[in-house]
Amino acid sequence: MASKYQAPRGTFDVLPADAHARRRVEATAAAIFARAGYEPIATPAFEDTELFERGVGRSTDIVRKEMFTFEDKGGRSITLRPEGTAPICRAYVEHGMHKLAQPVKLSYVGPFFRHERPQAGRYRQFHQIGVEAIGTDSPAADAEAIALLDDLLGELGIPGVELRLGSLGSLDSRRAYLEELRNHLRAHEDELSRDVRERIDANPLRAFDADDEGTRGVMESAPTLVDRLEDEDAEHFAAVRGYLDAAGVGYTIDPTLVRGLDYYTRTIFSFVCDELGAQSEVGGGGRYDGLIEQLGGPATPAIGWAVGIERILLALGDQGGKPVTERRVFISFEHDSGVGEQAMALATALRKAGVAAEFDLAGRGAKGQLKHADRIGAALVVLLSSDAPPQLRDMESGEQRQVELDRIVAEVAGSAP
Ligand code: HAM
Repeated sequence: MASKYQAPRGTFDVLPADAHARRRVEATAAAIFARAGYEPIATPAFEDTELFERGVGRSTDIVRKEMFTFEDKGGRSITLRPEGTAPICRAYVEHGMHKLAQPVKLSYVGPFFRHERPQAGRYRQFHQIGVEAIGTDSPAADAEAIALLDDLLGELGIPGVELRLGSLGSLDSRRAYLEELRNHLRAHEDELSRDVRERIDANPLRAFDADDEGTRGVMESAPTLVDRLEDEDAEHFAAVRGYLDAAGVGYTIDPTLVRGLDYYTRTIFSFVCDELGAQSEVGGGGRYDGLIEQLGGPATPAIGWAVGIERILLALGDQGGKPVTERRVFISFEHDSGVGEQAMALATALRKAGVAAEFDLAGRGAKGQLKHADRIGAALVVLLSSDAPPQLRDMESGEQRQVELDRIVAEVAGSAP
């Protein structure tokens, strides 16, 4: 039956078949985070618009074109969160987390919103899993964060993943490089796309991300930052690589790597996957040593990443996951015979004993109920009727025997795998 209502463009319903696969991804991540001491945090789905303008950066595509922004009834500008790092930094400052033992290691999962042109792997509401380690400038923290994502993708069995690693240097040391890059872009202004030309002053690094031929040609001869890292920035980058080697995480250095958010400093990284087509990044992140100060907090270095759950599922194809619970017992009963309450009581008692149990809610006849029990994969069926003692049927062997009503829970729970 077609309804005139559909999920909005770029959004989707998560139906039970997909929900199981998502749960597996989230549970795998939660276990990895718990082992490494990254505590869960959750922030609201919307924030003051200014948080993202200041945090993500006014010259980014996200802020310029992709935010779902509206006025609330009090005339305040509100934005559905396009990403999680700025909100978590807001929470870090708001709750005085700099007074806790540092670094504060956090993890999160939830929906995010960007008004992008929808295509495979790119949606207007999508879901990220991420971590942030706030209050450390140690290169070991960069490597630890990267290793966690490597671990997650590995444990989920995502094929063909490659880690690209780069460095943007610190804000001060980047200044000289950006001037050099701007000069290069200005010298080839005619060959650049309009978008890149308009952002030579505000965001010249984005030119590395352009997909038009003209800009790509210009960028082939552009100076790269990785080759110009000096002193502490170069040392930091070398140390991150050393720690990654120690953790056995393979990577390729990509001097042209840039990211779509303005807050990054020093280490940046991206996990790409061949299976994903045009939206080839499954997850990525980097260091953002200036963001918390930018948001009004104390100078606090930090590192983190986010991975897209939908991209993970796309990359996994149909090897997503199986239902978590076995549907073990189905209680078949004669409708309108007074044993409905017995079925209800038995299902409740079985569930309390930890056994998955269902009973008929559709008014089916005896045959229909057995068929349904088979369809949902029940291993056992209890048959209740008003004129015969309860029976327990093993669905595999077809064997059926009489049982006492008040022994059923003990028998079934005792035989559960
Ligand atoms: P991001 O690269 O903008 O980084 O997004 C991270 C991941 O979210 C992407 O790699 C992709 O898998 C997924 N993603 C982004 N946009 C979409 C979309 N429209 N549809 C489906 N999936 C999408 C961040 O958001 C940073 N906050 C990551 C970070 C954390 N950096 C430091 N800490």
